[in-house]
Amino acid sequence: MLSILLQLLLVFSPAFAWIPVVDWESGNVTASVGESGQCVCHVYLPDTTFPADRVQHMQQVSKELILEVEIQMNKMVSYEGKLEIYLKELMDLTVRVAMLESNPDKYIKLDFELLRIELREFEALVSQLKDSLNSSSPMFDSLYSEIHNMTLIVNQLETYDKSNLEVIRLEFAKLQKKLEECQKDQEFFTPDIGNCNHTGIMSMSKPTVVQLNAHLNAGYQYGGWGKDSKPVRGYESMYFYGAYSTPSVHDFYLYNNYEKLILRSAFKQHDIPRGWEGAGNNYIVHGNTIYYQINTPFSMAKLNLTSSKYDYRVIPAASQRFTYSYSNNQNLDFAADENGLWVMYASENSKGKIVLAKLDEKSFGIADEWETGAFKQLAGNAFMACGVMYATRSVDLNTEEIYYAFNTKTREEKHLNIRFQKFQETYTNLDYNPTDQKLYMYNNGYYVSYSVKFNRQ
Ligand SMILES: *[C@@H]1O[C@H](CO)[C@@H](O)[C@H](O)[C@H]1NC(C)=O
Ligand SMILES: *[C@@H]1O[C@H](CO)[C@@H](O)[C@H](O)[C@H]1NC(C)=O
Ligand SMILES: *[C@@H]1O[C@H](CO)[C@@H](O)[C@H](O)[C@H]1NC(C)=O
Ligand SMILES: *[C@@H]1O[C@H](CO)[C@@H](O)[C@H](O)[C@H]1NC(C)=O
Ligand SMILES: *[C@@H]1O[C@H](CO)[C@@H](O)[C@H](O)[C@H]1NC(C)=O
Repeated sequence: MLSILLQLLLVFSPAFAWIPVVDWESGNVTASVGESGQCVCHVYLPDTTFPADRVQHMQQVSKELILEVEIQMNKMVSYEGKLEIYLKELMDLTVRVAMLESNPDKYIKLDFELLRIELREFEALVSQLKDSLNSSSPMFDSLYSEIHNMTLIVNQLETYDKSNLEVIRLEFAKLQKKLEECQKDQEFFTPDIGNCNHTGIMSMSKPTVVQLNAHLNAGYQYGGWGKDSKPVRGYESMYFYGAYSTPSVHDFYLYNNYEKLILRSAFKQHDIPRGWEGAGNNYIVHGNTIYYQINTPFSMAKLNLTSSKYDYRVIPAASQRFTYSYSNNQNLDFAADENGLWVMYASENSKGKIVLAKLDEKSFGIADEWETGAFKQLAGNAFMACGVMYATRSVDLNTEEIYYAFNTKTREEKHLNIRFQKFQETYTNLDYNPTDQKLYMYNNGYYVSYSVKFNRQ
């Protein structure tokens, strides 16, 4: 396929084999385009008497030819630019079709739909280009055939394993229904990004189940995903993900945007080097830096994604004895909200209750601390929003609730029962993101998110 497209580009490159040979009654003129694109005219005169009037005429023809060549070349340059863009898009599609071909059972219908839409768009673009060129070149027919062939492959793959696909289709229908419900919820929720003029969380939307993790492995129950809570320029749409079958943390994956996350096409995989392995999966990305727990020595660690440098700080009071109810090794829980970076831990001193610490990003040290009334081991997880810590716990298999809040401004605690649905029973990572006011949950292998509604009376 690529060879066909490259040929197509060659036809449009300024090697104008098609410039006509202009015959002239008693002599002849041929015009062609030289190597550097200049117009070259060759004049052959039949007799020795110098026909001045004919030379003049020839010069005029030559001028017109040069002009015509220039016009055509400008056209071609602009078409070439367009074609290059289309070519890139098609290459991207090709890679994805190849991925589908090599692993058809691993893709859900969503991907097929996406591909089909893009193929249709591409077909329209090629058709448009063909019209503007007024060309009946066989290359266009090839390109059409190519697109048609890709559409056929996508359709074939979709029926590759009927039984498998029935299951996928069912799941997809369920997912779509959930997304629809969620959309309705989101119309009701009007995010007011960055505004903390409210009295706290009022309710949460239904869960949006994005999909199974990028390893397509339901055994990868321990992990986390989300977006940077304070993205640096150019990385506003970035997503991160990491997961394993144990609470240990060995690598992180980064995706350019939501679509890349869905297609499991990471732009970067960080394999954590020896000595920096993490634990607990309560990590976040803030300011293009991953904050996570390490166990040797037991401390806060960070991986600066800009510089790829690691660093760590020990919190002497923090204890490894206390973890959340759904996973081992969750001793340090990182969070970020409208006010900045936080870490939550429990200590012997606090008798297992969560201690909330505000982190100074520059020094990577603790700037302030509050002791809360929430026992770490009773909580499923905890997160920060607008300077308030919220702790969750299980109600039943499908239901979770925010049962506790601690306000760092007023030092007041509140008992709540803000219930929300879970997709799966257990989860290992729950964090609020102030850039979109959503909660991101790694729910037993699945990416799940929630919209948050604040009480703004
Ligand atoms: C053009 O000139 C060339 C060189 O003199 C000659 O070989 C050729 O036959 C001519 N063509 C016509 C169509 O007169
Ligand atoms: C396109 O080609 C047709 C016939 O080949 C011709 O009649 C028409 O004028 C051309 N249009 C343009 C815009 O060049
Ligand atoms: C498209 O598929 C048909 C049938 O498999 C094949 O004959 C044709 O060469 C293909 N076209 C291209 C451009 O690959
Ligand atoms: C906060 O919200 C309340 C009620 O919506 C409003 O009366 C008040 O002026 C707001 N304060 C600020 C600082 O925006
Ligand atoms: C990460 O590294 C970049 C480049 O060295 C630096 O500018 C930035 O301050 C670092 N961020 C953190 C949180 O350490």
